[in-house]
Amino acid sequence: MRLPLPRWFAHRGGGLLAPENTLAGIRLAAHMGFSAVEFDVMLSADGTPVLIHDDTLERTTNGQGAVAEIDDARLFALDAGGGQRIPRLDEAAWLCRQLGLLANVEIKPSPGMDRQTAQVVCEQVGRLWHGAAIQPLISSFSLAAMAVVQEVLPQARRGVLFEVVPSDWLAILQRLGAQSLHCDADTLSKSVLRDAVDRDIPVLCYTVNDLAQAESLLADGVSSLFTDRLDLFAPGRGR
Ligand code: G3P
Ligand code: MG
Repeated sequence: MRLPLPRWFAHRGGGLLAPENTLAGIRLAAHMGFSAVEFDVMLSADGTPVLIHDDTLERTTNGQGAVAEIDDARLFALDAGGGQRIPRLDEAAWLCRQLGLLANVEIKPSPGMDRQTAQVVCEQVGRLWHGAAIQPLISSFSLAAMAVVQEVLPQARRGVLFEVVPSDWLAILQRLGAQSLHCDADTLSKSVLRDAVDRDIPVLCYTVNDLAQAESLLADGVSSLFTDRLDLFAPGRGR
């Protein structure tokens, strides 16, 4: 099945132009003409799904320690950059709905929290996007998380993420009921791409910040690209 996918996803909200995984980033992506954003979702110590990439706070906030060990009161008091607060999934969902954005919800479990994170994300995604015209795309590197998506939200459109696509990628997608292959642009082989294209399976590549690489991947049949360079690839620029 070919999903109607946009060519570009703004990576981690607003890419490099805004603090990553923040509402300001999502707003900026929409403002720049992007119709789709990707963001990462992890659980706080209170079990609240929040937007953050690393399982520790140091790189993207003024806090310290493991996200999974920080309760909401402490987490939401932190600065995630430019005075932005770490958003909850429900806030990001409502913003995406309001702005008409396709959301790629990447389930990013803290170590050992794969099933629990996916369970909570699925419950919220099902509720937050209920009846929405633009349904989210769920993805994860965690096969355990994707197995939960299949159990809990089988109707969700979803893709499996790979840093390096394994030889049995097709069997994995089929087993998990996933419709799309998401992978690192730098490690994707021509043969895997050709195989996916021949099977009409969309391939989505991260993280593409270079014009020549983008043109080459798209010419070879990649469906969509995740970019940090919103300035370079804003859809209004004709690419
Ligand atoms: O979902 C695509 C991309 O975001 C995967 O890599 O590490 O940026 O979450 P990462
Ligand atoms: Mg991500």
